[in-house]
Amino acid sequence: PQVIFSAIQPTGAPHLGNYLGALRQWVKLQNEALPETTLLYSVADLHAITLRQDPSILREWRKQMLASLIAVGLDPKRSIIFHQSAIPAHSELHWILSCNASMGYLSRMTQWKSKMALPENANPLDTSSKAKLKLGLFSYPVLQAADILIHRATHVPVGADQTQHLEYAREVASGFNHLHTPILTLPSTILSPAKRIMSLTQPLKKMSKSDPDPKSRILITDTHATIKRKIKSALTDSIEGITYDPVTRPGVSNLIEMMYCMDESVAESPVLLANELKDLSMRALKEKVADTIELHIRDVRERYESIVFGDAKVLMDINEEGVRKAKQSADATLKLVREAIGLD
Ligand code: TYM
Repeated sequence: PQVIFSAIQPTGAPHLGNYLGALRQWVKLQNEALPETTLLYSVADLHAITLRQDPSILREWRKQMLASLIAVGLDPKRSIIFHQSAIPAHSELHWILSCNASMGYLSRMTQWKSKMALPENANPLDTSSKAKLKLGLFSYPVLQAADILIHRATHVPVGADQTQHLEYAREVASGFNHLHTPILTLPSTILSPAKRIMSLTQPLKKMSKSDPDPKSRILITDTHATIKRKIKSALTDSIEGITYDPVTRPGVSNLIEMMYCMDESVAESPVLLANELKDLSMRALKEKVADTIELHIRDVRERYESIVFGDAKVLMDINEEGVRKAKQSADATLKLVREAIGLD
């Protein structure tokens, strides 16, 4: 049977990149899953602390992300929803895997470089990196591999920025299986159609929680007025007419793409959608995009508010139940791993 696993870092409410690139896919997989499929969705709070976090903000964000997962449509009766840090087996498998993790391979992974604003060819042993690079950030992909492998996930739905990490998880699993007993499952990547939503202010960069400019992203909790304001200030171009061409017109194409992904019933593809809208002014296009987003995000926002401002015990119960089930899944694998390496 299939085991679907994915995770998201707790950085406040998710943005439309998270929503379209991952969360909506998670919900779709849940709603279409066969009864025997296991679904696990985690709030990756141990990954969050690879960068410095204020404890009170982290506490708030962990709660907000849990609320967001319910608000987008995950059903705690069907999907196992939990905070990563509540399951010690994730950390324990991370340690075991790290004992065979090559520094050379990890140093070629790009995420620690982008998080430290270093060039792609940066080397962890360069004097400029080595003093600042923290062991946890360097080991980030190993923990991510542990998250997936501890549940023997068969499928991992993510956005395009996670494909390198999933490639690495398969590498780690096959390394372990060769060295010891073949007990770990090699996970397949499920890329959602909206695999890379771009920033509203710098459309050559992905929409990201770490961008200091809040106008660069739309949150699933944004009001209609805020959505309109952010879309209105999105960077586009002064070419006449609307066309879809991500290379020459990244800003406009990103708006079309978001509108198309929010409501696939509007057209058969972003190109055809752009064609339908070809005579609109940029201003009219932006209004249409903002209204489409609002139409489809309103329910999520309202559910989010009723959860966050509602009875705190509801969220606590959901997490407790998720932790109980995730622990069973993780402990079963950990037992096999411990046996395989002689730690039983
Ligand atoms: P995170 O928290 O950065 O992002 C969560 C999910 O959102 C997707 N995503 C996007 N998709 C399209 N366009 C964008 N602009 C965009 N921005 C983000 C991401 O691809 C991701 O699917 N390391 C992971 C969390 C993690 C994880 C795991 C994921 C920890 N352990 C195990 C899968 C399996 C992360 O930081 O995602």
